[in-house]
Amino acid sequence: MSGNGFLDDAARAARWIASYRESMASLPVLPRVKPGDVAAGLPEKPPEKPVPLESVLSDLEDVIVPGLTHWNHPGFFAYFCSSSTDAGVLAEFLAAELNQNAMLWRTSPAGTELEQRMVDWVRRFVGLPDAFDGLILDTASSSSFTALLAAREQAVPDVRQRGLAGRRDVGPCVLYLSAEAHSSMDKAAMAAGFGLDQVRHIPVDENLRMVPAALESAIRADRDAGLIPVMVCATIGTTSTTSVDPVRDISEICERMGIWLHVDAAYAGPAAALPEKREEFEGWERADTIVLNPHKWMSTPIDCSILLFRDAAAMRRPLALTPEYLRSDEDGSNLMDIGLSLGRRFRALKLWFQFRMEGAEGLRERLRRHIALAGELAGWIEADARFEVLAPHPFSLVVFQAVPPRGADPDEWNRRLLEAVNRDGRVFLSHTAVGGRFALRLAVGSARGTEASVIEAWHILKDQYDQMAAD
Ligand SMILES: Cc1ncc(COP(=O)(O)O)c(C=O)c1O
Repeated sequence: MSGNGFLDDAARAARWIASYRESMASLPVLPRVKPGDVAAGLPEKPPEKPVPLESVLSDLEDVIVPGLTHWNHPGFFAYFCSSSTDAGVLAEFLAAELNQNAMLWRTSPAGTELEQRMVDWVRRFVGLPDAFDGLILDTASSSSFTALLAAREQAVPDVRQRGLAGRRDVGPCVLYLSAEAHSSMDKAAMAAGFGLDQVRHIPVDENLRMVPAALESAIRADRDAGLIPVMVCATIGTTSTTSVDPVRDISEICERMGIWLHVDAAYAGPAAALPEKREEFEGWERADTIVLNPHKWMSTPIDCSILLFRDAAAMRRPLALTPEYLRSDEDGSNLMDIGLSLGRRFRALKLWFQFRMEGAEGLRERLRRHIALAGELAGWIEADARFEVLAPHPFSLVVFQAVPPRGADPDEWNRRLLEAVNRDGRVFLSHTAVGGRFALRLAVGSARGTEASVIEAWHILKDQYDQMAAD
């Protein structure tokens, strides 16, 4: 389609987006569908004949929207928010048209060089030294896995050639992380052939931070037993509570013992752009690799994860492989050399649009607003005898529990409260476990969220509590 046909359709799609935005706040954040409902509205066979866009948009409205969890909803407070702004939406639209695949420099000089520059802008934004280079991958899971492969190649010579199976010259590889670290690290260890038995979940202190002394003794015990400590992963902003591991102390252990340090700042990373939050990031500049996800707390539409590294050669070593049909003579760097995927989306475009259309100032202002709102909420919770805050809240997540009426089981009561709050439809919260206790999580982080949405969530929590207590 070309000419006016495309322009009319693009305008139609833009109008649809505008009306979705207007109506979204009045839709339930979590859809009221059962498994199979959406599939039942879709024909089993693909259509033979084309239909006009109006007809597709009408089905989008009738069949798909009722089954959407609205991640851009101002009442979305679950997990960590992944929302989008105009800049990201428009860039994704254009990226689909430009359809770049920067596997080699020659297959997209602009895609390659824009990606490199955007990684560098993010590095500067979060105040890391220029010793860090990087690239953009889809998710933190991919970024951490890619980092682990590089660490493994460094610790065990020539895995890319000889593999790991049946080798008498190497013991089992081990990964160290806190008991609060994200499961993507455990998965990375499974995929890299370590096995879950070789993942050490180091104990945490009362503030849910990895205990460095326990880390050091675990590494020593493994070395003594002939195992190979490959990587330590420290987290800045854990998923459960946003606790922050003591990265400086951990980095000293890693340097002394010659072990790769990876920092998972998938959610909290962008907050390093705020001078008042820098202390939470102390020592992260000593890491070998760092992951942070613009698609979490920078309001970049999913997917967009940045993997920063110090040693580009070490990152290429595990997987760089160029068959004849991909050979080219140019000197430019080929992004396909790092990580598993060959083809790659033009993710850098949305970062470029965001930095240009929102400015670093705008990005910082949004982060500050989210942190302030979370602080306000924590204050209300602390001042209310029906609730208690369960963990420190250095960023924009508040983890808390309702104090049930006398005699009620706290975990059961909180589980029911969460169900009731989410059933209401205006907000969506998620849960975690803190010290074995069922806890509620309210993560502020939506680009579309406002103070009014946090106040609304707080009222819903209190109202539901009172209704449950009255029943
Ligand atoms: C700290 C942390 N690391 C890693 C991940 C995994 O992120 P992704 O979905 O991008 O793989 C998450 C997801 O919430 C996270 O919170």
